[in-house]
Amino acid sequence: MIKRNLLTLVGLQIAATMFIGCSQDGLRGHRDITDPLQLLNDRVETLLRQMTLEEKIGQLTMYSTDWESTGPSVPSAYKDEIKAGRVGSIFNGYTAAFTRELQQYAVEHTRLRIPLLFGYDVIHGFKTIFPIPLGETASWDLSLMESSARIAATEAAASGLHWTFGPMVDVARDPRWGRIAEGAGEDTFLGSLVAAARVRGFQGDVPGSDDAVLACAKHFAAYGAPEGGRDYNTVDISERTLREVYLPPFKAATDAGVATFMTAFNEIAGVPSTANKWLVNDILRGEWKFDGFVVSDFTSINELVQHGVASDLADAGEQALESGVDIDMQGAVYHKELAQLVASGRVNEDVVDAAAKRVLAWKFKLGLVDDPYKFSDGQRELERTMTAASLEQARVIGKKSIVLLKNANSVLPLRKDIGSIALIGPLGDDKKEPLGSWSAAGNAQHVVTLLEGVKAAVSPTTQIFVAKGTELSGDDRSGFAEALVAAAKADVIVAALGEAAWMSGEAASRSSLGLPGLQLELLKELHKLGKPVVLVLMNGRPLILNWEQENVPAILETWFLGTQTGHAIADVLFGDYNPSGRLPVSFPRAEGQIPLYYNAKNTGRPFAADNKYTSKYLDVPNTPLYPFGFGLSYTTFAYANLRLSKSEIDNNESLEVLVDVTNTGARAGLETVQLYVTDVVGSVTRPVRELRGFKQVQLEPNETQTVVLKLTSEELAFYNIAMQRVVESGKFVVQVGTNSDSLISQQLTVR
Ligand code: NOJ
Repeated sequence: MIKRNLLTLVGLQIAATMFIGCSQDGLRGHRDITDPLQLLNDRVETLLRQMTLEEKIGQLTMYSTDWESTGPSVPSAYKDEIKAGRVGSIFNGYTAAFTRELQQYAVEHTRLRIPLLFGYDVIHGFKTIFPIPLGETASWDLSLMESSARIAATEAAASGLHWTFGPMVDVARDPRWGRIAEGAGEDTFLGSLVAAARVRGFQGDVPGSDDAVLACAKHFAAYGAPEGGRDYNTVDISERTLREVYLPPFKAATDAGVATFMTAFNEIAGVPSTANKWLVNDILRGEWKFDGFVVSDFTSINELVQHGVASDLADAGEQALESGVDIDMQGAVYHKELAQLVASGRVNEDVVDAAAKRVLAWKFKLGLVDDPYKFSDGQRELERTMTAASLEQARVIGKKSIVLLKNANSVLPLRKDIGSIALIGPLGDDKKEPLGSWSAAGNAQHVVTLLEGVKAAVSPTTQIFVAKGTELSGDDRSGFAEALVAAAKADVIVAALGEAAWMSGEAASRSSLGLPGLQLELLKELHKLGKPVVLVLMNGRPLILNWEQENVPAILETWFLGTQTGHAIADVLFGDYNPSGRLPVSFPRAEGQIPLYYNAKNTGRPFAADNKYTSKYLDVPNTPLYPFGFGLSYTTFAYANLRLSKSEIDNNESLEVLVDVTNTGARAGLETVQLYVTDVVGSVTRPVRELRGFKQVQLEPNETQTVVLKLTSEELAFYNIAMQRVVESGKFVVQVGTNSDSLISQQLTVR
């Protein structure tokens, strides 16, 4: 079967003997051509030469399935398209059985038997759901993030998928933007490391392994900077900001070998990303040498008309293809317009060929051409999905993603044999919301709720009173009385409040960032009872928590932790795990401060309390409520003896930064030692400080360790006034500490 497919595809041009002994990836075993890349190119070329223009355009066309109550289905109109070779990939459909059946349809009904590619948004887990990406980034643990992507890929690939539309690597400095939940937060340096880790996790070591999927760096580019934080809105930033802040995570994904890119919905300075030749062809393919394929976002080619840069769909298709967008997601613009554009001479067929080749190359590399059913294996699906090991890993990542924001009088951890707990709030026993947005094939029934987690942790004698109190949104206070009665009976109140999953993610911008609905009011009522209150937050973005910080003794930021939510939170609540999460994003005090990020510029009139004419607000401080990198522990850490291995370096040298970190509390704990750098004088203005390294260190009580962080000259580089990336000589301040606002420093000179 495998050989027949292969020979059907390549038989006319290449002698059959070439493929004797072919392995599944179809690249080895050839007698004459030993260079795998050359062989791949030959196979792609050979296939392409047999294809009609319509079939080539088919490779550039992707459609979504429909979803019925029983699972994915393919509309019959699409089936006809598939049969005619006019569809190259399908998204939103999975399971080994579904993908096998559709693949068989595609392969057996088409002239050239070219298999379909199956894509899906596997963003933070496939069936085993991990914390939302923003939450997971709070672990600052790159190997954990790589491992969750690895597990997600293993499960997805076992369900017949070949490609995930992730990771989302958009830097986001605006918490109004709901998609902040899907990325790594506000910092470019951290975001770049996370991007690479997630790409490695999704793609594994060998392309085409049956436990890996193609990754997709999205949304190219600067989608995280919409005006007003409103999704899809205009982006207008300088090339310098684009290159320094928004592009590096995409470059890191490219360097990590990401197979695909997705263009963004937004424009940048007047040019929609889906028609941005400079961005896609010049920077991505030219400067960065990216050789995979680029997909549009959902109908983003069509939307070039609404953007007002294309007069009609034909114009839109022409611009997108010429800019380097290979696959049209759902919009059917290429499908409807490209053939005519080629016929009329507006688009050269070579451009279509180049795009089709990039897609076909990955179909070969995945081994699909040789075995279209490679990823559709029902037995593997059963064996590899939601294994005990995956669930355990989700719990570990979950507990490490939790950030302790406040813990007055050491209210936490709670004793497991505490007499009684009142678990109040709409998220206390909810199975659905903890999955967060983009929860792929995650099933709410598998979610361990906070109540279930607490029950599993406490002693048999502990009483638990549960009441919802109110809903996540709306103005229904009919549950207040019951909640207050329950709370009044307990030794401690755990208030589980936050956002619904749908309040973050795509098309989920918010203009006010407090707890929605009547939740704050409920919390105030609970507070009046005079009992210790622990606020457990579940949410997809930074919230504004001024009253909470002022009045509630203990606050845990748990994001949306996925399948193992209840166990992960209970691990922290009852002290089995000493919280170690650190915020990957600043939490503002007021919406009016947004955008608010730690690596801002100084301005010519930096804040001075005694001078009105400095950069500030009349009604709110400049500072965030919780700074980037912030997070408490059940122990405390002290920093001393910051020293540099060299206090002067040449502009191509590296140095070591050493600091003594001591656990000054009574419990073992994990500290994330953060390294920041300030370039004091540049040819252009530089941020007040930028993260340039971090290391995690586990310390026993009273233990001191010398932590060594490496600082390379590349980490001092930036785009100078001529837009060249350089290290300028002069003074730098090297800072180390527990968060971006609590640092000790040393001077460094670059000669
Ligand atoms: C639109 C979203 O912007 C993108 O991130 C996603 O991958 C596609 N829809 C497909 O679901």
